[in-house]
Amino acid sequence: MERLQKVLAQAGIASRRKSEEMISSGRVQVNGTVVKELGVKVDPAADEILVDGKPIKNEQTLYLLLHKPKGVITSAKDTKGRKVVADYLPGIKERVYPVGRLDYDTEGLLILTNDGEFAYVMTHPRYHVPRTYRATVKGTPHGKVLEQLAKGVKLDDGMTSPAIVDYHDVNPEKNETVISITIYEGRNRQVRRMFEAVKYPVIRLKRVQFGPLHLGALPRGKFRHLTPGEVEELRKAAMEAEQTSARPADSQSVQKKN
Ligand code: URA
Repeated sequence: MERLQKVLAQAGIASRRKSEEMISSGRVQVNGTVVKELGVKVDPAADEILVDGKPIKNEQTLYLLLHKPKGVITSAKDTKGRKVVADYLPGIKERVYPVGRLDYDTEGLLILTNDGEFAYVMTHPRYHVPRTYRATVKGTPHGKVLEQLAKGVKLDDGMTSPAIVDYHDVNPEKNETVISITIYEGRNRQVRRMFEAVKYPVIRLKRVQFGPLHLGALPRGKFRHLTPGEVEELRKAAMEAEQTSARPADSQSVQKKN
């Protein structure tokens, strides 16, 4: 037996929060009775569940990994005619939603799914799923700057929580440094704002890892299906992170590599 809002989200009806709103507003019936409370448990295989009078389909759940190029909007449609992530999913008929966002100018790993429950767990702050980025900046920030980023910097929506920060590549010829940063929160434009706060604005940003999932060698603009094992690993990582509050107890930086 599962909570009704979870079953609706898993069936791809809407996110869990939207599903809760649908229930509260009386749009959902179970075995002929309108259910407005949120705690009710149902058996999706045996109970007849209707939304707006129509039975929910247990449509196949899809989990995709896209290497989002920069210059693409993380949404299904754009009113200004810019490229959107759906343009990079040829052959996918199901309506899939991005798991969290990447800025227009950020490239890299983006998960998309029609499993609203999965998306909820992956992005809810309670689960602290780590995200790793490669941020390219002009010049070479001092180790102290990286320590500050790792400990936490003050943004207009509060201090950032501890992060893992390290040099990834120092390139004196180009006068650029690539820094690897792992954060355990998903605030809007967080990495860019953190680097702005220490006066090293990001000139390129790429997400390379989400929980245990790596972008790997997937070419830019291409997608692949996640394996059932990868989906399981992601769920497990979120549950473990919730139980252990698996953020670095103290910030960790910094071993200069070259
Ligand atoms: N942090 C950012 O600044 N941008 C992103 O796209 C993701 C994280």
